[in-house]
Amino acid sequence: MKNNLAPISLALAGLLTGCATHRQPGPLTLKDAFKNDFFIGAAINQTQFSDEDLRGDPIIKAQFNSTTPENILKWESVHPQLGKFDFAAPDRYVEFGEKNNMFIIGHTLVWHNQTPRWVFQDENGKPVTRDVLLARMRDHILTVVGRYKGRIKGWDVVNEALNEDGTMRNSPWRKIIGDDYIEKAFQFAHKADPSAQLHYNDYSLENEPKRNGAIALIKRLKAEGIPITAIGLQDHVKMNWPTPDQEDATISAFAKLGVKVMITELDVDIVPATQHNRTADITLNNQPAAGANAFTNGLPEAQQQALAQRYAELFRVFVKHRADISRVTFWGVTDGDSWLNSRNRVNYPLLFDRAGQPKPAFNAVISVARP
Ligand code: GLA
Repeated sequence: MKNNLAPISLALAGLLTGCATHRQPGPLTLKDAFKNDFFIGAAINQTQFSDEDLRGDPIIKAQFNSTTPENILKWESVHPQLGKFDFAAPDRYVEFGEKNNMFIIGHTLVWHNQTPRWVFQDENGKPVTRDVLLARMRDHILTVVGRYKGRIKGWDVVNEALNEDGTMRNSPWRKIIGDDYIEKAFQFAHKADPSAQLHYNDYSLENEPKRNGAIALIKRLKAEGIPITAIGLQDHVKMNWPTPDQEDATISAFAKLGVKVMITELDVDIVPATQHNRTADITLNNQPAAGANAFTNGLPEAQQQALAQRYAELFRVFVKHRADISRVTFWGVTDGDSWLNSRNRVNYPLLFDRAGQPKPAFNAVISVARP
């Protein structure tokens, strides 16, 4: 069946969730369904926050009460050259969030990807010193966070600092500054906006070795009095990974440390050929894989239903932990927007199809909401 024939309508979703308990028709939107539990967010692109996406914008406004910029606050976009910031797009992003009463997230300050080479080099192409790199980091964070002080409510301060085995990734940040680049980034962000929530964000934290590394990192930061308020579980997940038990144990382990847990980049990769890659390393995304184009003509009904069940099992875990989870953000709005499509894959990872229609997965998520 073609993808756009499958979805049950919003109205039907309401009736279904309502009749099970003889209540009034159930909540029709994601943000209403989970309003007593956590924010429901979406990562949005430039067309969307410019109000030019006729299909995506009505969905964003109706369904989501938090927003993350997909790309425009990454270093390469907002700070492309030494001494040159470009705030045109981020300004529009923040205005869009405010106009639509959304809890606005900043993503991301310190990362090894989408950061220009000049940041780490002097004018001869040689690595800069620790002091120079710290000064650049400080300038970047004070300028960007400071500009949106009080308006961007939470920042992904450091993204993806860990290897799969839980050790510290040897990124240019660590090579040049040392392990304490993480402490410094949080201190600068706190100085720029003392009221902002500050997060450490990473993928595959459901895998035990990496999770243990993140737990050690958070314990270290807390022991040093570093103002970290949340851990971001990216949750670029597969159909069978992580298991609900792994997700449950991961959320519990972090909540015990006294930080909030956020699901920051949720999507479900449904393409069979990529199920074995249990990380979200973006450099692996464009590699050819046999069978990657399995669903070029739409998602078959059996897979639609399997995806719906997968979303429901994840949301059951999130709702169970609602006291510790402050936000669940999807990485994109409709399937067509997703980074999981590439020249090798047509993917169906989100709750709305390419025509902007809610999929069975949407109804499955709504059905998990508490009365
Ligand atoms: C990581 C980053 C996001 C995004 C995704 C995939 O998870 O944190 O900003 O780049 O990869 O695109």
